[in-house]
Amino acid sequence: MALLLALDQGTTSSRAIVFDDAGSIVGAAQREFQQHFPKPGWVEHDAADIWQAQLDVAVEVLAKLKLKPADVAAIGITNQRETTLLWDRKTGEPIHRAIVWQDRRTAAFCDQLRADGKEDLIRDKTGLLIDPYFSGTKIAWLLDNVPGARQRAEAGELCCGTIDAWLAFKLSGGELHVTDASNASRTLLMNIHEGDWDDELLTLLNLPREILPSIRFSSEVYGEASSKSPLAGLKIAGMVGDQQGALFGQTCFDAGAAKNTYGTGCFMLMNTGAEAVASKHRLLSTVAWKVDGVTEYALEGAVFIGGAAVGWLRDGLGVIKSSSDVEALANTVEDSGGVSFVPAFTGLGAPDWDPYARGAIIGITRGTTTGHIARAALDGVALQVADLLEGMHHDLGQALSELRVDGGASVNDTLLQIQADVLQIPVVRPKVTETTALGAAYLAGLAVGVWPNRDAIRQQWQVDKRFAPKISADEAASRRATWRRAVERTKGWAQE
Ligand code: G3P
Repeated sequence: MALLLALDQGTTSSRAIVFDDAGSIVGAAQREFQQHFPKPGWVEHDAADIWQAQLDVAVEVLAKLKLKPADVAAIGITNQRETTLLWDRKTGEPIHRAIVWQDRRTAAFCDQLRADGKEDLIRDKTGLLIDPYFSGTKIAWLLDNVPGARQRAEAGELCCGTIDAWLAFKLSGGELHVTDASNASRTLLMNIHEGDWDDELLTLLNLPREILPSIRFSSEVYGEASSKSPLAGLKIAGMVGDQQGALFGQTCFDAGAAKNTYGTGCFMLMNTGAEAVASKHRLLSTVAWKVDGVTEYALEGAVFIGGAAVGWLRDGLGVIKSSSDVEALANTVEDSGGVSFVPAFTGLGAPDWDPYARGAIIGITRGTTTGHIARAALDGVALQVADLLEGMHHDLGQALSELRVDGGASVNDTLLQIQADVLQIPVVRPKVTETTALGAAYLAGLAVGVWPNRDAIRQQWQVDKRFAPKISADEAASRRATWRRAVERTKGWAQE
């Protein structure tokens, strides 16, 4: 039996999961790490914390299972996307905390790019919109604001990368400075049709090409863990952005297959095959993965706050002790009692794209309880996803027959029932909901011959539970109309 080690570096925690060649979880370890919020709208991570947490959980899971690195066929890396850092090429020391995908500090720079008429150019080349979400403007901010950074970058002393590149660099003891095509497609710097960094975009953002990693396949042997590492000798054979990893782990290999992941945010991706479909509804075209030299694409709807809304009920509001308590609290009431909760804590992603929007709870009356607020939070998560699916339907001119779901909050049956209700299509949860990590394990396993091809993997996907809509189409439409009224009220809130 072959084993694969997936390193799943998410926004709030680092996880390591060992899978067997049947795609089942053999063991897992997880560690949360500190979030830094230096100013309203700013979100940073200490890259040294990320690396330490990731290494610790990898060592922990192997120890728990009494495995040596030689017992594992390969490592697959999957990661929170867009989060970016710069580090010293020689010492491996970051020059500043990583700027997280949720961070809004470059909103004014994005406004300027838009005012300069760059939207079409950027969309045509990258498949993305102009928004602080993506890495490019974050890198420019670091070069312009960290003393000496630009000179050091131009002198070739600095490496830049998203978290996949950072982990590969650290794991290999500084040997590798690589990223994969799925992660590169989130930077605002890659031409997704050509598969390389784009000089015109680099000039536009004033970024030196030398700091960037080389763009590799999502499935290939890039190198191995350094001899000084506790994982010494383990092959690094898969790299993929976490949402594309989940698409792969859900075996959405054919054009038209889609999944939604409830992580920190919510990310709906639909495989569009060899074609990068240009959205007319403010969705993103992105690289799904590059395997055997072939790039496949996805249409993506990204919303910034999904499971994090539940985290806020726990940490910000203190109405639940642990995230799993939200379901019981939400079920103390029949419905939200007219309350709408728009979790635009870090602005609105697709389809509204407003970095200045902020969260709102509206419709509160004297009868409103914490149960109603919890219910409204779950509704808010599901209703955002419904907005994404509607955009996809229109872009593709056809309706989806079901939606596969995964991620931490997908264990919540109440949320998935609400989701099926507002989407008006069945929502399907697979047996393995750690599909992000599973996708990375599959990609690594394909590179080292654990599976001969995707067909061998496809058969492993199994249904755990299917949620059919229980409300009428009229009621769903009315809920969605109320939701849209609430969303409109959050827009532009933080704009001076
Ligand atoms: O684009 C951001 C996304 O990759 C973050 O994923 O799982 O940390 O919410 P997650």
